[in-house]
Amino acid sequence: MKLIINNIINTKLETKRLALRPVKSKDLRKIFEMRKRYPLSHLMKTIWAMNYTSYVNWFKKKNYIDYIILDKKNKKIIGIICATFYLKNNILSAELDKYIAYKKYQYKELETEATTEWVNFIFQSTEINYFFTQTLKKNFSNLNLNLKLGFSIKKKVADLTPRNSSWNLMKLDRKKWKKNNSLLIRNIYFSDLKEILKWRNNFKVRKISFDKAYISYKKHYEWYKKIQTSKSYFSFLILKKNNKCGIVNFKITKPNVVQWSIYKKPFSKKGIGTYIAYLSINKIFDNLRVNLINASIDTSNLASIRFHESLGFKFKKKLQKNFVFYSLSKTYWEKTKDVIKHKLFYEYNI
Ligand SMILES: CC(C)(COP(=O)(O)OP(=O)(O)OC[C@H]1O[C@@H](n2cnc3c(N)ncnc32)[C@H](O)[C@@H]1OP(=O)(O)O)[C@@H](O)C(=O)NCCC(=O)NCCS
Repeated sequence: MKLIINNIINTKLETKRLALRPVKSKDLRKIFEMRKRYPLSHLMKTIWAMNYTSYVNWFKKKNYIDYIILDKKNKKIIGIICATFYLKNNILSAELDKYIAYKKYQYKELETEATTEWVNFIFQSTEINYFFTQTLKKNFSNLNLNLKLGFSIKKKVADLTPRNSSWNLMKLDRKKWKKNNSLLIRNIYFSDLKEILKWRNNFKVRKISFDKAYISYKKHYEWYKKIQTSKSYFSFLILKKNNKCGIVNFKITKPNVVQWSIYKKPFSKKGIGTYIAYLSINKIFDNLRVNLINASIDTSNLASIRFHESLGFKFKKKLQKNFVFYSLSKTYWEKTKDVIKHKLFYEYNI
């Protein structure tokens, strides 16, 4: 259990409108106050949380991780999402709990956004066989959200609190999650690091990188810690039918401007570069309020120069040390993205 939790505890998760990060001791009072809010307090299975000391003790449990849900715009804590792990008969499972505490943030699909990311994160980062959750029968919005994510109702559960309400036990197994999971671009998790390092150390990628040396796992992990903590470096993994196909890294260099680098899984088929670029550029322009993407490319990397030109990047200037500078504006992308989409479908068959 300790190993599972250590592997995931420091992962920064970003969605379109939210940031998810591990709860810290300094947040506990704030969370406690948030949990007491009506109607939230009446939608929880347990009533122990009304007492601050028992809440703090619960937080110290070893089989449990919880993350704060923050509104990216104003950094306000708006809810909590957590997983409690159980190992029974050699089968690992996790219980899902979540809430958005403020009315103002409800009915905006924010909880769906956070939970989709969380469920993917836990399935991808651990060996859990299934997720389960206990949902108050009359809490229709929560019930529907779970159904939308692929959970199915298994049985009624007795309420041990004096409220004596009706609850449903809901379950989502790994097979069904995998089948339903249509996520194409996501945060990088600790469990991805070994595979990404192999790609990064491939000769083709090293040859064109600023740092051409062979990267050790220790150094790679330091890079990962940097993207976890930095406010200006971001990296995402691009997938196709649950298969990992490439990485995009970017750094915010000025307000609304990023510098990117991209690489695909070595030996993948033609067109995969365009596929990972298409998804990454859409994400950068649509979700991150960016309006210019820059690239510094080694002049010997003709394939990458042609690749950038094929996406609509324009040559801007020569840089020192045999690098050239290319840019793609959001306005230009809006005009050409449908042509790229068409090429992906008809030319590359992706
Ligand atoms: C750059 C990279 C992402 C391109 O991916 P890819 O799958 O090879 O690219 P695609 O098959 O989607 O090709 C898109 C366009 O790129 C250009 N291109 C790709 N490979 C090329 C090559 N070997 N020579 C010349 N042009 C090439 C072509 O213009 C192509 O369009 P076309 O099919 O109409 O000819 C990939 O080669 C890679 O990961 N390289 C190593 C890392 C790297 O160089 N990253 C860029 C750092 S700035």
